[in-house]
Amino acid sequence: MINQIVLGDCVESLKKMPDKSVDLIFADPPYNLQLKAELYRPDQTKVEGVFDEWDKFESIQVYDQFSESWLKECFRVLKDNGSIWVIGSYHNIFRVGAVMQNLGFWILNDIIWMKTNPMPNFKGTRFTNAHETLIWACKNKDAKYTFHYKSLKNFNDDLQMRSDWHIPICTGEERIKVNGQKAHSTQKPAELLFRVILSTSNPNDLVLDPFSGSGTTAAVAKKLGRQFIALEREEFYVKVANERLEKVIPIEKSLLEYKIEVKQPKVPFGNLIESNLIKIGEFLYSKDRKQKAQVQADTTILWNEKVGSIHKISCEILNKPSNNGWKYWFVERKNKLFCIDNLRTEYVESFLGNKKLG
Ligand SMILES: C[S@@+](CC[C@H](N)C(=O)[O-])C[C@H]1O[C@@H](n2cnc3c(N)ncnc32)[C@H](O)[C@@H]1O
Repeated sequence: MINQIVLGDCVESLKKMPDKSVDLIFADPPYNLQLKAELYRPDQTKVEGVFDEWDKFESIQVYDQFSESWLKECFRVLKDNGSIWVIGSYHNIFRVGAVMQNLGFWILNDIIWMKTNPMPNFKGTRFTNAHETLIWACKNKDAKYTFHYKSLKNFNDDLQMRSDWHIPICTGEERIKVNGQKAHSTQKPAELLFRVILSTSNPNDLVLDPFSGSGTTAAVAKKLGRQFIALEREEFYVKVANERLEKVIPIEKSLLEYKIEVKQPKVPFGNLIESNLIKIGEFLYSKDRKQKAQVQADTTILWNEKVGSIHKISCEILNKPSNNGWKYWFVERKNKLFCIDNLRTEYVESFLGNKKLG
């Protein structure tokens, strides 16, 4: 099944998959919108809503049973440290969320996808429905799920990524058309899947989508160097997704590494002195050169008759309970100031790469 769009009922296909074999699941199930009559705009043009057979269920109870059947299988095939995303609207997401919790999933967040270009409420009888909800969950509260926190923070201009995502609905070039008609009524924007897959999986991971539709998850997974299994009941959509996938070129492997997430090994300040990158007796300076402290043989620094660590003395100066001395102090080299954190990186590279220290 790997790297395939598998035709058939998702519960049946899921049953053929081994336990704990998937790293990430993205599910966009039928919403059970219960749209009965056709909908028209004030100018009498027809609204292309979701009237598809696959979205129809006899009752809410039947919908709940269906949710339980596919979510139970998802729980089984998900690795212990994997995670699952389920997207839905007010029509179904509360019920799906309850089923997930009943099955033992541990909810990590709900994300609000704010549609920057939502469809209006044509009848003017309710608020414009401008968002959908994504539930992000793992298998239990102690699971060590993947989350690329630093990358997402960087994505968001160095501010923690928030749970409200402002992304337009799928229109224009991105919207797949067949004979001038939308190929799929609920094609999700690739941008949304990009954020989900980028944040919560690793290159080469196996991503599963039980409700593939036009193949958005598979396409983004392929682009991001992940493997995928996509399940879909309708032959037409399988064809649409396969044609879409053929055009996807995966991103070069080296560009997919999460370099920002790599943790620096712990290096004590004393190592820099032992290795002569910082000399006993030399001065450390604040960035504006207003403060200076002298390095002592016992690796403490002396400032205004006070001795302590690089961190403690920087706290004294800044009058703060805690501070990172690695970022506060600079050394002078060839009349220029260099942050001692850069010397630490130099030490780590020399140490790890076994290069001779300069
Ligand atoms: C909401 S759409 C998914 C759209 C998709 N995320 C995209 O971007 O194109 C749900 C899809 O699930 C499919 N589906 C519904 N019930 C299914 C089932 N029991 N097994 C497999 N696929 C099913 C429908 O045919 C439909 O294409």
